[in-house]
Amino acid sequence: MSGGQQWWQTAVVYQVYLRSLADANGDGTGDIAGLRDRLGYLSDLGADAIWIAPWYSSPLADGGYDVAEYCDVDPVFGDLDQADALIAQAHAVGIRVLLDIVPNHTSREHPWFLAAIKGDPAARARYLFRPGRGEDGDQPPNNWISHFGGPAWTRMSGPTGAPGDWYLHSFAPDQPDLDWSNPEVAADFEDVLRFWFERGVDGFRIDSAHGLIKTAGLPDLSDSPTRHGHPAWDQDGIHDIYRRWRSIADSFRPPRIYVGEAWVDDPGRLARYLRPDELHAVFASALIRVPFRAEALRARIQQTLDTAEMIGSPVTWSLSNHDTVRHVTRYARPQPATSENSAWYRRQRGTGPADLALGRIRARAATLLALALPGTTYLYQGEELGLEEVEDLPDQLRQDPTWRQSGHTDPGRDGCRVPLPWSGDGPTLGFSPPEATSPPWLPQPEHWIDCTAAAQASDSRSMLTLYRTAIWLRRDHLLDAGPVTWIDTESDVLAFRRGRICCYLNTGSEPIALPPGKLLLASETRAGSMLAPNTAAWLTAQS
Ligand code: NOJ
Repeated sequence: MSGGQQWWQTAVVYQVYLRSLADANGDGTGDIAGLRDRLGYLSDLGADAIWIAPWYSSPLADGGYDVAEYCDVDPVFGDLDQADALIAQAHAVGIRVLLDIVPNHTSREHPWFLAAIKGDPAARARYLFRPGRGEDGDQPPNNWISHFGGPAWTRMSGPTGAPGDWYLHSFAPDQPDLDWSNPEVAADFEDVLRFWFERGVDGFRIDSAHGLIKTAGLPDLSDSPTRHGHPAWDQDGIHDIYRRWRSIADSFRPPRIYVGEAWVDDPGRLARYLRPDELHAVFASALIRVPFRAEALRARIQQTLDTAEMIGSPVTWSLSNHDTVRHVTRYARPQPATSENSAWYRRQRGTGPADLALGRIRARAATLLALALPGTTYLYQGEELGLEEVEDLPDQLRQDPTWRQSGHTDPGRDGCRVPLPWSGDGPTLGFSPPEATSPPWLPQPEHWIDCTAAAQASDSRSMLTLYRTAIWLRRDHLLDAGPVTWIDTESDVLAFRRGRICCYLNTGSEPIALPPGKLLLASETRAGSMLAPNTAAWLTAQS
C-alpha cells in the first residue's frame, strides 16, 4: 500500500492462465504445484498479486470457464490442499491471490444441469429453459447470438426423447446460462464466495460481470442494440447481487475485493458497478484496442482517466490477456490510423506477415507506457518474455470453442495460451519436468528456445529484465507520483509527467530529441539525447 491507497489501486497483477504456466506433474497441463514453483520468479518480477483463471472442477470445454463444481479444484490442476498451500505460500512472499469466479453460466456437466436435463424441476429452474418458436418449436426462443458464434440457444430432448425445450448459453453450448432471478442460484454463489474467502483468497475477478441478469421475458434483440440496450447485458437488477457480494467481502478481515469484467461503454452506467457498496474495480480494455500510435493512445488514455475520475474508480490497464492476440503480434503488423477499426485487435488469419522483431520493440515501449500510468496494471503471463501469438497451430490441435463455433473461420484464442518456455533446450523448454509423460497441451514454437525465462534472466537487454527493472522502478518512483499531466510535443510522440517522472513514447518514424533530465529507463539503448522511433523512456525532470 502507498500514500493511503489500497493495494488494489496500484498493484501489478500477474494473470496466470494455469493450464499454460508450468506443469509439475508431467501430464502436459500446467497445475497449482507448477505455479507454486514459480512464485519466487513472480516475486522477483515484482508482482503484487496473481489472478488465476478458473481452477475449479471442469471438463475444460472453455479452458475452465465451464465449471462443474465451484468448491473444488480440478484434479488436472491439483486439489484443495494444493490450493491452500499456494495461497499460504503466495502470502508468505507478499503476493495476493485473486480467483476467477464464473457466475453467468456453469458447465453442462454441473450436477445442477445434469439434474435439470433429467427433468428435476428445481434444477431446471436454475437455468433458462424455454420452448422454441414456430409450429414445432424448432426455432430458437429468441434471436440472441452466442459470443462464440451461432445461436445462443441449444435444443434438448424431452423426457420421451422427442425434441424439447431450448436452453440459453451466451457462450458455448457447453456453458448453460444460470437464471439469476432464482434466489437459490444467488444463495449458492454467496456460499461459494465464503468458501474461498475462508481459505484466504484476497478477492475475485468476476467473469462476464455485467451479464447475470437478463430482461424478463427474454425479448428479441432489436436491430441496433447498445450494450445497455441488449436484453442480456447490464440490466439494472445486477446491482442487488453485487451489493450482497460486497457485504460478504467486507465481513472478512482484511476485506476482500472484486474486479469485474464489465463491458459497459457508457461511463454513467459503468459507474453504477463501482458505487461504494458494489465492486472495487472493473477492467478497462483501454490499451488492448488501441494501435501503436501516439495520438490514438493519448486519446484513449485521457478518455479512460476521465471516466475513472468521473466515477471515482481506480484505473486498470492491460496490454494483453487470455482472450486477445498477444500485443507483440498486434504491433507487428501495419497499425490502423485510429482505434475505430475494432477488428484490428482480434485474431486474424491470412493477413500479411508479422514483423515480430518490430512488434517486440514496440511492445517494450508500450510496457513502459502502461507501467508509468496511474492505477493497476495487469500483465498476462508470457508477455514479460516477449512471447508472440502462435498463429500457426495445427488446426486439429485447436481447443478453443470459438474455432468450432465460428465454423472454423475464427482461429480462436489458443494462440495466446501456448505453454510458457521456462528453461533449457529440452522438448518442453522447462514447462514440464524431464520425466513428463505427455507433451504440452499445445505445442511450443521451436524458436522459443531463445526466449526462455532462464535465458532472459541473465541478459541485461532482455524483455524480462526490462519488465523487472520497470516494475521495481515503478514501485520506487511512480506509485505516489500523482495524476498525468500531458506535455506538448510533436505529433507521433506521447509525453506526460507524473510528479518528477516524465514518460516519452515515440511512435513515429524519426528520432526525437528528449529534454534535459536524468534517464531512469529506456525501452532500447538510447543514442545520446535522442529517442528512436518505436521506443519509450522514463526521465527524471530537472525541476
Ligand atoms: C470471459 C473470459 O475471459 C473468457 O475466457 C471466457 O471464454 C468467457 N468469459 C466465458 O466465460
